[in-house]
Amino acid sequence: MHLDPAQIPTSAMYQHLLHIIVPRPIAWVSTVSLSGVTNLAPFSFFTGVGAKPPSVVFCPSNRRDGTPKDSLKNILDTGEFVINVVPFRLAEAMNLSSAELPPDESEFELTGLETVPSSIVKPPRVQASPVSLECTLMHHLALAPGPGGANIVVGKIVHLHLDDAVLDHAGWADPGLLDLIGRLGGASYCRTTDRFDLLRPSVP
Ligand SMILES: Cc1cc2nc3c(=O)[nH]c(=O)nc-3n(C[C@H](O)[C@H](O)[C@H](O)COP(=O)(O)O)c2cc1C
Repeated sequence: MHLDPAQIPTSAMYQHLLHIIVPRPIAWVSTVSLSGVTNLAPFSFFTGVGAKPPSVVFCPSNRRDGTPKDSLKNILDTGEFVINVVPFRLAEAMNLSSAELPPDESEFELTGLETVPSSIVKPPRVQASPVSLECTLMHHLALAPGPGGANIVVGKIVHLHLDDAVLDHAGWADPGLLDLIGRLGGASYCRTTDRFDLLRPSVP
């Protein structure tokens, strides 16, 4: 099959990307609105950017009516967000938090997840998540306006929280102890407990 992106609907292109770029880590993004309402939503168009500055990127597309999702609106209004990771035991709650609630309703209340105050930024962390990255907004780039329009959000990590229970003896987060989920196409997910090791080649 050969496809010209210009000849297929935006929704079909999105589905192709969802099925091709796998597995994807999930940024479980907590934000707070100007009026103080907390918000929580998952985004799997997400990755790290680099360590200097310590930075991450995630990509909230516009809603079908062309408006920004609550997460993006809150980040643009306040300049702050927290990325929480999603272990397997929180998969159902993560999925529930993707519900499109009105901006004055919190996904924390919907899911029953506890919040815990962040150290630097105003949005709270997800208490049950073993790793949280407190971020301030570095860049927002809107690639296209209107329905389905893609946005790039670059965050500077200003504080890291790592649960000691997921650290190995060297102090790094261990994939097996984290037991995070990754998103595949459709309704499928994978787990970081299913893995293999590959040593880098040594230069002779
Ligand atoms: C696992 C998962 C990954 C998702 N990834 C994205 C994504 O990368 N970009 C996006 O725009 N929406 C993504 N969504 C959909 C959003 O979570 C959903 O639109 C949510 O309602 C947005 O919430 P908000 O309006 O509170 O920001 C994803 C949903 C799930 C369940």
